[in-house]
Amino acid sequence: MTQQDDHQPGTDAGHPMHRRDFLKKAAALGGTALALSSLRLTANAADKKKAAPVAKPEAAKGLTSAAGKPILATHPQHGYNKGETIQAMTFPNLSSVEGISPNQLNQHIELYNGYVKKINDIQGQISAMTPELDKMNATYSPFRELHVEQTYALNGSILHEAYFENLGGKRTPATDTELVHKLFTEEFGSWDNYVQHLSAVGKSMRGWAVTGYNMRDHRIHNYGLDTHNQWVPMNVIPLLVLDVYEHAYMIDFGTKRGAYLDAFMRNVDWAVVDQRLKTMILHG
Ligand SMILES: [Fe+2]
Repeated sequence: MTQQDDHQPGTDAGHPMHRRDFLKKAAALGGTALALSSLRLTANAADKKKAAPVAKPEAAKGLTSAAGKPILATHPQHGYNKGETIQAMTFPNLSSVEGISPNQLNQHIELYNGYVKKINDIQGQISAMTPELDKMNATYSPFRELHVEQTYALNGSILHEAYFENLGGKRTPATDTELVHKLFTEEFGSWDNYVQHLSAVGKSMRGWAVTGYNMRDHRIHNYGLDTHNQWVPMNVIPLLVLDVYEHAYMIDFGTKRGAYLDAFMRNVDWAVVDQRLKTMILHG
């Protein structure tokens, strides 16, 4: 049994709903007033009854990244809804990245800009179509193709925004964060275990490694995606996004993905991850 699946759904202590209540209390208190070891193991009905009303911490109000953009990986103001145009983000926080060259980052951003352009193109075409059921086909139809590529371009945009946002900035060390360090350590047994597990996922996949908050069990997991829209788990909010496509590192590191993973970890702004975590616990 691995560290991540040793809880027992159905037992009181491990019940996801009780865990959510405890996490909300921890987030409301900034993560410093509750021992995370008790969060995980001592949730019970009595504790739930005693739970004080959750006060929203200042950190959860008007969250912005170093780039001045909202912290959440999903950006509703960007208009991912039908008929609206998405604007590509800029990432001034990347100017403080060390060990990944500006050329590598700029080429990567150009790729991201292409995804934003295409999601607008695709969703514009979908909006303009009047579906005729007798022309739909699951082997091939223009309508099917548009919907296949819609998720590819949409996730390609969202994942890249989250990736670029959690790099550079103030490069806040994980140990300086209020909640993320404690909760990730609790979940994986130690911080080194977490980093090793994330790196292992990063070396194993062809597209992405994502540390996500699972709203089904209210726990932290590392997930792997081979492409933007393949193996994507439902009910999971990305907290830390790591791009492991070759285009993310080939200019600087050639085929040495391990060196890139080390450089990535040195440049994570953990304050961004910490605020994403608090926001999801309080509002997810
Ligand atoms: Fe990428």
